[in-house]
Amino acid sequence: MAEKTAKEMKEIILNKFAEVFGDTEGVKAYFAPGRVNMIGEHTDYNGGHVFPCALTIGTYGAARKREDRKLRFYSMNFSHLGIIESSLDDLKPAKEAGWTNYPKGVMWAFGERGYEIPCGMDLMLNGNIPNGSGLSSSASVEVLTGFILRDFFGFDVSNQDLALIGQFSENNFNGVNCGIMDQFAIAMGKEGHAIFLDTADLSYEYAPIKLENAKIVISCSNKKRGLGDSKYNERRSECETALAEIQTVVGINGLGDLTEEQFEQYKSAIKDEVRVKRAKHAVYENRRTVKAVEALKNNDVELFGKLMNASHISLQYDYEVTGIELDTLVEEAWKVDGVIGSRMTGAGFGGCTVSIVKTDAIDSFIEKVGKAYKEKIGYAADFYVVEIGDGPVVL
Ligand code: GLA
Repeated sequence: MAEKTAKEMKEIILNKFAEVFGDTEGVKAYFAPGRVNMIGEHTDYNGGHVFPCALTIGTYGAARKREDRKLRFYSMNFSHLGIIESSLDDLKPAKEAGWTNYPKGVMWAFGERGYEIPCGMDLMLNGNIPNGSGLSSSASVEVLTGFILRDFFGFDVSNQDLALIGQFSENNFNGVNCGIMDQFAIAMGKEGHAIFLDTADLSYEYAPIKLENAKIVISCSNKKRGLGDSKYNERRSECETALAEIQTVVGINGLGDLTEEQFEQYKSAIKDEVRVKRAKHAVYENRRTVKAVEALKNNDVELFGKLMNASHISLQYDYEVTGIELDTLVEEAWKVDGVIGSRMTGAGFGGCTVSIVKTDAIDSFIEKVGKAYKEKIGYAADFYVVEIGDGPVVL
């Protein structure tokens, strides 16, 4: 799929806005990216490190203030739903509200923080992140909404606050106990850089991604994943129980505090074999992430790739969040010459893989992995060669 430019996307959304909401008087256009995580999976709610980056694909938005308290929503990705109406006086999650639970959740979360939204708005969205792909379309909508609210009403919140507000709304309005990674990566994105974030204290550092003769390729399994109905919350509580068990023998705040050696020393405190595997993943994956960023700093992309591969194996066997679709994409990728590393990315249970592929091998990668996937799974995967972009912007 050829990616349209931001200028083209702005034109498309403004035209549609005029068509759906009558005219474009007082409308502003915005963009918030999606994200891909290079390594550090299921570590962000365990006080560990993550290494995500914002993408140049994401969510485009067009919005204007209203004089009443009405909210009118329209998504070009769900155009069959038409205009969905709500009100600032009715910010409650509802199944039938569909995707609008994300912007509404953020409006609610601003209220919970003491920021009063003075008037309603018309809001149109158009995303070019494949929906349900695990590239954080929902966090992108959350950060975009917060960014628009700040721009409209001058709320004194930083981009980091936008990430925290987005996570708060996802946790408390939409019922998914996600960590901070997605919203942080989106709100704090920086072109050409991944973010090495320590989720224990939110300290972070931008690391340039210099792949020289290679690129980041995302393979989308087209197996839809909804965090709410997946086993995401279950994994999180397994880790919390394992942490509580380890805390009976050693004083730590999170699994991310342990080295591999310490984990081996204390793991017998965990009273269940499955939980040992879950905690092992959280500890080892965190250490792998630290090592991967070090490797990148030393320009050792090969080692970075090997750590990505090890991450997948751990997610497959210890954390058990991959599934046949993601395993097929990764195992087929590993067979292709020119693949430096490949792993599932995001929550898992469907969604996407991320691979670092030598530029001259990308065509054969897409052909070979695509063919093998279709043969084994029965439907096609999609491939995106992506670039690392900035956080949210006014267009
Ligand atoms: C989802 C969550 C994140 C993170 C990843 C797994 O994307 O939203 O907070 O836990 O899964 O690494």
